[in-house]
Amino acid sequence: MKPTKIAIIGTGSVGATTAYACIMRNIAAQIMLVDVDEKKCKGEVLDLSDALPFSATSKVEQATFTQAAQADIIIIAAGKPQSPGQKRTELLEINGKIVKSIIEKLNPINPKSVIIVVSNPVDPLTWYTQQLIDLPKNQIIGSGTMLDSQRLRNLIAQRLDIGEQSIHAYIIGEHGDKQVAALSAGNIADVPLYTFIPITELQTMAQEAMRRAYEIIELKNCTCYGVASCVAAICENIIFDTKRIIPVSCFIEEYNLCMSMPATIGANGTEEIIKPPLNATEQKELLISIESIRSNINILKNSL
Ligand code: LAC
Repeated sequence: MKPTKIAIIGTGSVGATTAYACIMRNIAAQIMLVDVDEKKCKGEVLDLSDALPFSATSKVEQATFTQAAQADIIIIAAGKPQSPGQKRTELLEINGKIVKSIIEKLNPINPKSVIIVVSNPVDPLTWYTQQLIDLPKNQIIGSGTMLDSQRLRNLIAQRLDIGEQSIHAYIIGEHGDKQVAALSAGNIADVPLYTFIPITELQTMAQEAMRRAYEIIELKNCTCYGVASCVAAICENIIFDTKRIIPVSCFIEEYNLCMSMPATIGANGTEEIIKPPLNATEQKELLISIESIRSNINILKNSL
């Protein structure tokens, strides 16, 4: 039997923390790290290797792009991070170039690989990756609004003192300022969320969830634990072929772009995509979200 391998491209705070989260979750036999900064990459490999005695993962190694291209899961976490006050979309052109240069080196690619794009702005970059890599679109996903949904569930959980895993609430659309909280369909044990918390307060919480990354970056210059935990969880669901539903950025045929929707995650990436029912306001917000992603995709189209 071949050992399961996860490759992580980019060993900044998000890439390195994702490696650590995967190691601690015991989901893969081997973790491969790749970075153009080979010295930093080597340092992360040695540091992470010290965590192996506490994990089922047996190896962390520095790899080439060619080796990484053969992994079962390839995580693209390279790119410029947001500076305080900066929007994710402001990173489009610089991170578009970085993602393109990485993809050119991931050749030949394992036809069974699932690619997870984490670099921001994640929705246009997931779409871009789907154009540049010759794999079925369902095998290329973005970490998307899983994190935003977790942030919202966490706020609701604290307010109600109910475990967040029992709170069913999705943030969909853009992983950015134009994200959409599907609050009208949110529920706890089938009881609508708005019967527990007034809708205006839920909307304030959704705003807080959207602003959370800005707040963290203002305080400590980067976010890493939340996104790394989400990516490790996505990997686990791929490796164990669970078909659990997670909001991730994926290709939505109806709009011909990538954005987050709840989707089953399994060995082939996303399978079934399920759009939550939206009220008229949420539907309008979704169209605004789509327009935002589309305008950023149009900028990338020129550099295909
Ligand atoms: C965040 C980054 C991953 O929301 O976009 O923390």
